[in-house]
Amino acid sequence: MQNLPTHIAFIMDGNRRWAKRRGLPRDYGHRKGAEVLADTIKNLANIKEIKFASFFAFSTENWKRDESEISGIFSLVDEVFSKFEKDFQSQDIRFKMVGDLSKFSPELQQKLIKIEENSKNNDGLTVLVALSYGGREDVVFAVNKLIKAKKSAVTSEDIAKNLQTACAPDIDFLIRTSGEMRLSNFMLYKLAYSELYFPKYAWPSFNKKRLLKALKIYKKRNRRFGGN
Ligand code: FPP
Repeated sequence: MQNLPTHIAFIMDGNRRWAKRRGLPRDYGHRKGAEVLADTIKNLANIKEIKFASFFAFSTENWKRDESEISGIFSLVDEVFSKFEKDFQSQDIRFKMVGDLSKFSPELQQKLIKIEENSKNNDGLTVLVALSYGGREDVVFAVNKLIKAKKSAVTSEDIAKNLQTACAPDIDFLIRTSGEMRLSNFMLYKLAYSELYFPKYAWPSFNKKRLLKALKIYKKRNRRFGGN
């Protein structure tokens, strides 16, 4: 396949609605969402033209949710990453965690850092998982780094190089499931010229066929980056 995105990103929305429509508990929706995340990573790792994949798993604003939902999501994250640890090695995936880790339990922080460290020399797909992440906070992070480095007359390139997400290029294609048409403070700096796609189905209904359909749609887009 040609003309595929180098960097594809996902806002994995609609887990709770998916569960509710089926009369299932909310946490089941997140669990199914985590399974679809694992499958999607596997499918993307087999498409060599795609080099980076970013996933929005938990935003800075998601801390406003019920404590019971938050603790459910984080125990799921803990469980799922134990499995990812092996998958990332067998699939040659380089993992990068982005967001404010300081809010997680010390055990989870260590687990994520270890997985990142152990995968850093893999040279297949790079997977960024955004947890407790905000796009504005990422820009603030970069600006503070530049201030610390006493950098004056900052360029947009300087900012790009100092983001938490600096290991990946701009996002070419963003898919947000479940029909909401907004960016919700995702990787704002990287989304400046992204192609956007908002399918109506919820994240737990995403699959390989839908991924291939989305990529077909992307290939038809005429990207001009503000030029002719
Ligand atoms: C959005 O659906 C989903 C979330 C805020 C949580 C995303 C979590 C996962 C995909 C699974 C766990 C993640 C990892 C990294 C293992 P929603 O809850 O906003 O659903 P709604 O839009 O139907 O209310």
